[in-house]
Amino acid sequence: MAAAEKAIAEHRPDVVFVTSPNNPTGTAVDADTVLALYEAARAAGPSMVVVDEAYVEFSHRDSLLPLIEGRPHLVVSRTMSKAFGAAGLRLGYLAAHPAVVDAVQLVRLPYHLSAVTQATALAALEHTDTLLGYVEQLKAERDRLVAELRAIGYEVTESDANFVQFGKFPDTHAAWQAILDRGVLVRDNGVPGWLRVTAGTPEENDAFLDAVRELMKEQER
Ligand SMILES: Cc1ncc(COP(=O)(O)O)c(C=O)c1O
Repeated sequence: MAAAEKAIAEHRPDVVFVTSPNNPTGTAVDADTVLALYEAARAAGPSMVVVDEAYVEFSHRDSLLPLIEGRPHLVVSRTMSKAFGAAGLRLGYLAAHPAVVDAVQLVRLPYHLSAVTQATALAALEHTDTLLGYVEQLKAERDRLVAELRAIGYEVTESDANFVQFGKFPDTHAAWQAILDRGVLVRDNGVPGWLRVTAGTPEENDAFLDAVRELMKEQER
């Protein structure tokens, strides 16, 4: 927080982005943190604060959406790419004060959202209960990955997203390759020492856990 407040005062940015839950760490911030950043941004100048909630449906915490009430410089953005499993749709949305929404309407491109995208999104929304039901299964699997990775002996970042950051590896690329050699593709996001695994089906997660269990045994040898 101290570093963020200092950076805001120094750079006086037009927009401050807060990603919660964050990618690739998976960590979420609480309402007090966002409110403090909002105050810092307001004190520094005419800055907007955008809370990116792309992964919020997977979070243990409540959405920060209610914070927009009475705060015209706060925006919350979401996407259908994650919880709805519809990254190919290219459909995101935001909630903000009506004046902000009107201003966005002025600068958006004409026909930026195809009729097919809109129809598909509406169909997805009709099946919200089913689609978000899969999210509940994924959350349980994500929590299982966190617990089992810790039991194996890895360091794990607390996760509110549909992926888990784990480590720490003296050679991140070698660890990534060793897991791939066992048939499991994880992500090297360029954070030294850490890899990121996306929660999958129980069978996929078991295959991943078997791979990293073997890797740990190899490293201990
Ligand atoms: C934190 C975060 N925000 C937003 C997005 C954007 O999602 P999309 O462009 O698919 O809507 C992503 C995608 O990876 C993300 O990780």
